[in-house]
Amino acid sequence: MSGTRGTVQHSQSEVVDAIIAYHELSKHHPDHFARGPGGLDWANQPSPFRTFADSPLLRLPLVARDDTPPAAALFGVGAVAPRRLTLETVGLFFELSLGLSARKEIPGSSWFLRVNPSSGNLHPTEAYAVLPGLEALPGGAGVYHYAPVHHALEQRARWPQTPESHPAGFHVGLTSITWREAWKYGERAFRYCQHDVGHALAALRFAAVTLGWRVQWLPEWDDTQLAKLLGLDRAQDFADAEPETPELLVRVIANPAGAWAPLALENASWEWFGRASRLSQVQLEWPAITAAIHASKRASPSRNDLRAVAPPPRLPPSPPVCGRSAGQLIRQRRSAVDFDGLTAISCETFLAILDSTLPRPSSPPFDAWPLPSRLHLILFVHRVTGLDPGLYLWLRATADQAVLRQDFRAGFEWKAPPALPHPAPLFRLGKGDVRDFARTLSCGQDIASDSAFSLGMLARFEPVLRERGAGAYRELFWEAGMIGQALYLAAEAAGVRGTGLGCYLDDVLHRALGLANRDWQSLYHFTVGGPVEDPRLRTVSPYAHLEGQKSSGSSPAVSA
Ligand SMILES: Cc1cc2nc3c(=O)[nH]c(=O)nc-3n(C[C@H](O)[C@H](O)[C@H](O)COP(=O)(O)O)c2cc1C
Repeated sequence: MSGTRGTVQHSQSEVVDAIIAYHELSKHHPDHFARGPGGLDWANQPSPFRTFADSPLLRLPLVARDDTPPAAALFGVGAVAPRRLTLETVGLFFELSLGLSARKEIPGSSWFLRVNPSSGNLHPTEAYAVLPGLEALPGGAGVYHYAPVHHALEQRARWPQTPESHPAGFHVGLTSITWREAWKYGERAFRYCQHDVGHALAALRFAAVTLGWRVQWLPEWDDTQLAKLLGLDRAQDFADAEPETPELLVRVIANPAGAWAPLALENASWEWFGRASRLSQVQLEWPAITAAIHASKRASPSRNDLRAVAPPPRLPPSPPVCGRSAGQLIRQRRSAVDFDGLTAISCETFLAILDSTLPRPSSPPFDAWPLPSRLHLILFVHRVTGLDPGLYLWLRATADQAVLRQDFRAGFEWKAPPALPHPAPLFRLGKGDVRDFARTLSCGQDIASDSAFSLGMLARFEPVLRERGAGAYRELFWEAGMIGQALYLAAEAAGVRGTGLGCYLDDVLHRALGLANRDWQSLYHFTVGGPVEDPRLRTVSPYAHLEGQKSSGSSPAVSA
């Protein structure tokens, strides 16, 4: 640690130690769980929807017709011609990435579900569009908060810019309101927020596919710049509100031939609007989370950090066969709440679902991700026809095979299963019934064992943090969340269903694999199988409360 005139600067090694300390603290153990609130204060539950009082509200059109491409396009099969950037296409982009997907009702209670998943349906992720001047955009170029419940943009900032007829695209910034998760999960909330940023990033990429657009995460935008661009550092606008942490900025490329003007940070000609709403009466402090946010603050990476991505497995995409449109598939994504314990999937379907997680330079969602893949899947196979039940490895980056072989316990089989329908990076580590083990790893939840298969995402951990700095902690969780979102959609496409599993008995898995240090860490679990619906729930159309705004044709219904 060094200090000049009252400021304390920590060395990279100290901040990495700090984020590793948070990671250890937020683990569950069989004899004690990570610290939580010890009960839910329902009266103080944070609202899942933030609004900005006194900012101009621009309702986005909701288009009734579905002219999205076949679902295969989501997995990199088939080209989609780019659609023009208009309010209608911006509306569809946000609806299919971060919009509402349904309202669920039981007598006495109702809640919204969204296109992107979130642990506990708490939704800590907020999104901001940084739009150029568009002809139909009454507020002009500026920063807009996306308000999913109104399907509207709330204008936060405006700057002078002549409207463009065919702009290159726009930017989207993601932020987290950690308190939404900490209310329920306490110290481990920071992990869930980071998973959700990853889900949201992949959701943005998948939505872009439906419009023939591309998405690129811009890792060179650091937290300080992003906070400034999005107005998160404007203390007066958040005076009465829970803070938002800057996470990432993406470029949404709508017109590949368009020219990008550099994104300036605030100058005197910017005009700001709105005050952030308060989400609950009292925000409890979790010092471990504050420390984790601080330690993992992302600074601009050097060019060296973004060196060439290791080549992905050279396999053509082989996604699940699905007759639906991309829009239908995205809207129908749900988490299974229960599995039947019976449904078996074919080996072909199993491989097709896993195929969606492979990083390929031109397949969504990982074509938006400029970093090497650091996560592999440890699979618990329960019901896959033609495959022995047991423990398997899905190797997402072939370059890691040798080091995994060396680090895993001796005695694993490392066998390519016989008679796979096509080549795949799948290795059997051991045969056997792993249902009890999978259930234990997920805090006793049957959905980890009643499925066709479940899995843990294992990340190259401490070596990556030591090399890239503590900000890479977030990136590892983002990659995990992206894998989760790909699995959710691929499972739907295959006619089954997925669920993210957020139970952090990490060291139990590490011990089973023979991992003795922190070179590898388990970050997120997932399960896929034949879902059982909850018959008590009624499903209502997501935007019934905005009825009357739906436009059936090409002229968007916009009200300011
Ligand atoms: C990171 C993460 C962890 C989750 N953990 C669990 C879990 O342990 N058990 C469970 O039943 N559902 C879990 N879920 C599913 C969420 O409860 C679900 O996403 C949320 O209720 C919203 O429902 P939806 O996915 O159908 O939109 C998890 C989801 C995420 C994204």
